[in-house]
Amino acid sequence: MKVLSVASEVAPLIKTGGLADVAGALPAALAEKGVEMRTLVPGYPAVHAALDGSKPVLSDGNLFGGPAQILHGTAHGLDLYVLDAAHLFYRDGGPYAAPDGFDWWDNAERFAALSWMAATIATDGIGGWKPDVLHAHDWQGGLAPVYLQRLGGAHTVGSVFTIHNIAFTGSAGADMMARLRLPMEGYNPGGFEFHGRISALKAGIAYSDKVNTVSPTYAEELKTPEFGMGFDGALAHKGSDFCGILNGIDTDYWNPAKDPHVAGFSTPRGKSKARTALIEEFGLPYDNGPLCVVVSRLTEQKGFDLLLHAVPTLLERGGQLVVLGSGDPGLEHAFSELASRNSQVAVHIGYNEPMSHRLIAGGDAILVPSRFEPCGLTQLYGLRYGTLPVVASTGGLADTVIPDGVATRMAGVATGIQFAPGNAEALKDAFNHLCDLYANPDLWAQMQRNAMKHPVGWDVSAAAYAELYAQVARNP
Ligand code: ADP
Ligand code: GLC
Repeated sequence: MKVLSVASEVAPLIKTGGLADVAGALPAALAEKGVEMRTLVPGYPAVHAALDGSKPVLSDGNLFGGPAQILHGTAHGLDLYVLDAAHLFYRDGGPYAAPDGFDWWDNAERFAALSWMAATIATDGIGGWKPDVLHAHDWQGGLAPVYLQRLGGAHTVGSVFTIHNIAFTGSAGADMMARLRLPMEGYNPGGFEFHGRISALKAGIAYSDKVNTVSPTYAEELKTPEFGMGFDGALAHKGSDFCGILNGIDTDYWNPAKDPHVAGFSTPRGKSKARTALIEEFGLPYDNGPLCVVVSRLTEQKGFDLLLHAVPTLLERGGQLVVLGSGDPGLEHAFSELASRNSQVAVHIGYNEPMSHRLIAGGDAILVPSRFEPCGLTQLYGLRYGTLPVVASTGGLADTVIPDGVATRMAGVATGIQFAPGNAEALKDAFNHLCDLYANPDLWAQMQRNAMKHPVGWDVSAAAYAELYAQVARNP
């Protein structure tokens, strides 16, 4: 089985969130299931810089306003097709936003170009390689199945579309239809039209053979008006062609015993060095309550306004908080201000990979109070490192954390705390619950052991993707 994956970011080359981790981890996980996956990514400067070696395999004289070529090469063990189109991607700044923080003015064309190339490669093959399935991720790949149909590739190539974040719809004005090479007949509620505009996300949903999101609970939630953000009808309409497949993590990279960023450990007791190091790094004075950590984008989705309201409960009980994150300026300011007023709180605004490992390893608990969470990866890192997750009972968080309760405690299987509803009062209760657990060292250690052996790898989910590919491939 050969699969072309198309993604706007792929770790460790270029990353703004969990999509990169998933796109970066899938090829190796799928190789074990007999799937050969190659990945098409935009030629951002960071991607060109990471290539071990490459050769041009396709060229296009005019791809949405300029010349382009596809380079085939490898980087960090990934088999990559790089869309080398300087007019679209070779820019200083982020994958989606300019250095001033505003979205690139031509994002619709940039990712239409990526999707067009994906469909071209899938339809015609490239350098003698032709995929059985085109697997597109998020709105940035959403137009690929439309183009696949338009170019005639859909007769021979199946399509899968994965929704990592429904909040980003890939919206463009209806007057962009010709510029985006879209067929007029697709501009309707059953196609890519969404509230009088073009939506690349809607296109991915409507035109792909199978659609999935990254956890079973979030798949159910997405079919409701509360979570579906207007796409609930389209997703419900897919019936059994829409499902949830839980993300995994790279258990070699996130391995407490071999993590080069921290003093390694393989049992809960061994965590104490990493914990002490974290307390010293951030100059935290208190040591009589749980040390809670956050590693996250600071956005509305992640529910940190709840945390800001509920945190006094944690601090009153001797808990501490270390936050690593960046994003919304209001939240950045609120956390910095909280830290300036409380010696039990430390905040680092920014993106810092090594530091994220130090927090995950040294914390007692990791907080993920999200309003919605398709899957979430940091609670999985927490489990692997015996850092107990305290999570909102939603989406993938609900699918990955076994909440402490009467039955789970009796059975000795609990791995963390889930709170519901998603409000500050429930989070305060969760903090009290956490502090009670922390005050019971035997129970706490039992939960840490449970967490550290909870399966968080890709094995089961890679098999589920392989099965999905087999279902859509035209000649399995
Ligand atoms: P999302 O994709 O919604 O941001 P996930 O939990 O799926 O949420 O993935 C986030 C990824 O980004 C994780 O790998 C997490 O460790 C990483 N991350 C987020 N913020 C930071 C940060 N400030 N520094 C380092 N890593 C971060
Ligand atoms: C998105 C979601 C997150 C998920 C990640 C990878 O960014 O917000 O929950 O883990 O994609 O699928």
